[in-house]
Amino acid sequence: MKPTAAERLLGRVVRRLQEVDSTQAELGRLADRGAPEGTIVSAEHQTRGRGRRGRQWLDAPGESLLVSILLRPAVEPARVPQLSLVAAVAVVDALQTGPAVRALIRWPNDVLLDGRKACGILPEASTADGRLRYVLLGIGLNVNQADFPPEIRDRATSLRLASGVPQDRDALLERLLDALDARYAEFRARGFAGLRSEWLRRAATIGQRVRAPGGDEGVAVDLDEDGALLVRGDGGAVIRIASGEPVHAPGH
Ligand code: BTN
Repeated sequence: MKPTAAERLLGRVVRRLQEVDSTQAELGRLADRGAPEGTIVSAEHQTRGRGRRGRQWLDAPGESLLVSILLRPAVEPARVPQLSLVAAVAVVDALQTGPAVRALIRWPNDVLLDGRKACGILPEASTADGRLRYVLLGIGLNVNQADFPPEIRDRATSLRLASGVPQDRDALLERLLDALDARYAEFRARGFAGLRSEWLRRAATIGQRVRAPGGDEGVAVDLDEDGALLVRGDGGAVIRIASGEPVHAPGH
């Protein structure tokens, strides 16, 4: 049976803000002061939103879900990127229980609607003496944007644009927390291996051409038990790209 909001691990403590530098930064401050696992920071607008690989994450105030979730899993730091693949599975779960849209994952963790990016996920780890202290799992989901600037219009979309109707962001956040709570419980119980097939079932990347960080190109053929992408290079060899590394795929 689905847990009630009070039974969920995620979202027992929620800090909702109008404006913040970054929900990641704010949650990090709370985590350093001992905030419990599952604490969430959400905001209507970020002035210094963080994206992957040091990029900025821009938002249209009040149109997105901008959330950071505090996780304290008992795993090695090397496993942290897997959590972002787990989160991508949960985002797709949440989108599929809502309006009629087909959501797919572009490796490792972008969620696409109609082939355009609607959601980005950023896992940031804090470690001490080689051990994981906590993970800030940041999720930015484009919900009610009716348009995007010309320079990203062919690469970005929102749930509203893909479904044709404006969406209730609070209801969506609840669905997202339900889904993530369930998937995170699976991850803690069985590790990533059990979630691999769920990721593959939602994958847009398998069968596509990608370029590995070293410059080799090939076709993505599989995901291994650790969440690394397996690419059959044009020379025939299989290249393994770990999920913490950048990959350049079409539209990236
Ligand atoms: C990406 O580059 O694809 C990841 C983007 C992650 C953005 C979210 S929005 C909420 C949270 N706070 C941030 O500053 N970044 C993440």
